[in-house]
Amino acid sequence: MTQDELKQAVAQAAVDYIAQHAPEGATIGVGTGSTANFFIDALVALKPRIGAAVASSEATRKRLEGHGFKVFDLNAVARMPIYVDGADEIDPGFAMIKGGGGALTREKIVAAVADTFVCICDASKQVDILGKFPLPLEVIPMARAQVERELIALGGKPVLREGFTTDNGNIILDVHGLSIGKPTELESALNQIVGIVTNGLFARRSADVLLLGTSDGVVTLTK
Ligand code: 5RP
Repeated sequence: MTQDELKQAVAQAAVDYIAQHAPEGATIGVGTGSTANFFIDALVALKPRIGAAVASSEATRKRLEGHGFKVFDLNAVARMPIYVDGADEIDPGFAMIKGGGGALTREKIVAAVADTFVCICDASKQVDILGKFPLPLEVIPMARAQVERELIALGGKPVLREGFTTDNGNIILDVHGLSIGKPTELESALNQIVGIVTNGLFARRSADVLLLGTSDGVVTLTK
C-alpha cells in the first residue's frame, strides 16, 4: 500500500469510529494535515448524521465548508465527543508531536474540548521516543531570539520555518536534536517560556484512541 492509501484507510476507519461512537447530530472536532484531509473527504458519507464540525485551522474550515458541513466557532461549543487528527510522531503512551502543518495551537485548543482524541496515522509515525521529528513551537515574532536562546540551553537546535505564518499571525520554530523521554515534563517546561504560544507536544492531553495504518490493515489501539 502507498502512504496515501494507508492515510485513506485510517481516514475511513475514523469515519466508522464516529458512526459507532458519536451520537446523532454530534459536533465533531477536525484536525489539520494530509491525513485529516482524507478524513474530511470520507466524512461526507456520514454528513446526514453530523450536526456540525469545529475546525483546527483555516485550511480545514475551508475544506469542511467546501463539502457543505456546518462549521461552528469553538466558543459556541461546550463539549464535543470526538476530535480526529493526525500526528507527526506518536509514542507508546500516545503522547504525540504535532504541528508539522503549523496548526498546533488551534489543534491543541480544539482537542482540549473533546472527550476522545482519535489519532489517525500510518505506522511510520509510531516511535519509541519522540524527537526525531523536529518539535514545532508557535512563537510570537518579537520573542524569536529569546526563545531560541532558551531552546539552545535545553539542548535543542531551533530553526525558523522560513516563509511561514500561522493562522494566528505568528512564526514557527522547529526544534531539532531533542530526545524526548519525558514528554509531559518537557511540555510543561516549554509552557513556562515566555513568547512560546504553544509547543507541539501533545502529552498532557495525549490521544485516547490510535487508528494505525499498517500493511496488514488498520489496527485500533486504545490507552
Ligand atoms: C498539523 C499537524 C498534522 O496532524 C501533522 O503534521 C500530520 O500531518 P499529515 O497527516 O499531513 O502527516 O499536526 O499541524
